[in-house]
Amino acid sequence: KKDLLALSELTRHEIESLLNEAEAFANGESWHVAKQTFVANLFFEPSTRTSCSFEIAEKKVGVDTLNISVAHSSVQKGESLYDTARTLASLGVAALVIRHPKDRFYEQLKGIEIPILNAGDGCGNHPTQSLLDLLTIKQQFGSFRRLRVVIVGDLLHSRVARSNADVLKRLGADVYVSGPQSWMGTFVHDFPYVTMDEAVKEADVLMLLRVQHERHDGQEAFSKETYHMLHGLTVAREKQMKHDSIIMHPAPVNRDVEIAGTLVECERSRIFKQSENGVFVRMAALKRALCNEAAE
Ligand code: CP
Repeated sequence: KKDLLALSELTRHEIESLLNEAEAFANGESWHVAKQTFVANLFFEPSTRTSCSFEIAEKKVGVDTLNISVAHSSVQKGESLYDTARTLASLGVAALVIRHPKDRFYEQLKGIEIPILNAGDGCGNHPTQSLLDLLTIKQQFGSFRRLRVVIVGDLLHSRVARSNADVLKRLGADVYVSGPQSWMGTFVHDFPYVTMDEAVKEADVLMLLRVQHERHDGQEAFSKETYHMLHGLTVAREKQMKHDSIIMHPAPVNRDVEIAGTLVECERSRIFKQSENGVFVRMAALKRALCNEAAE
């Protein structure tokens, strides 16, 4: 079965196949399931982009969607994630899309016979976000080779930083990190550190991360203004960027924290392009899950 749990589990060939498939969907190709197929979406954490783009992708490929309201499900009676998944599989659901606050929640689901698509696990992975980020970069530059990508901000709490850094390195990009030293975790051992003032001058792709206030246990190291001044993309810093470099952010954005509010929709911003690409990569992920040979 074709789970999609972390990009580290996929070969380079599988990642490139998914990107090619997503690019074809972006260019207007379509694919439909051959028979009635149910996919269940379970979001144990809030989401706008991932949940809505999975639902749109499911509708585009002809899938019948079950949006499970976790708050009104038997999870509230203490039913485990495994028993919830096993029940949905027994009802005839063909694949599960799951976002969960626990890192590697999918390890509880060994033995579930239907594909699991990880829509974000704690501070772990967010493989479809990484794929849509890769697609956005590929559309802009055509290739990843020797591209300078700087990942900036709350790397410690991010579920896209590690998978993006590793996969971009695997695809040939030069990856750097930036932001508060106390939020760098193990990244500083694996990737060169640059200050934000160096980053804006050097980056082809400036990948800003959201400050994840909800994962800081109420202990903020910086005021919003201080963070913006020290590590944010200010209006003045944006003027230092190379003429063909782009700004990315997985969103939701804390305006005037990671990025000046007026820059969110500036010419070099690809933030809403990333959201748009979410539909196409999720179509590709669904096709791979529901049609085993599709992405091989
Ligand atoms: N980028 C992202 O995962 O957004 P949502 O939390 O809105 O799904």
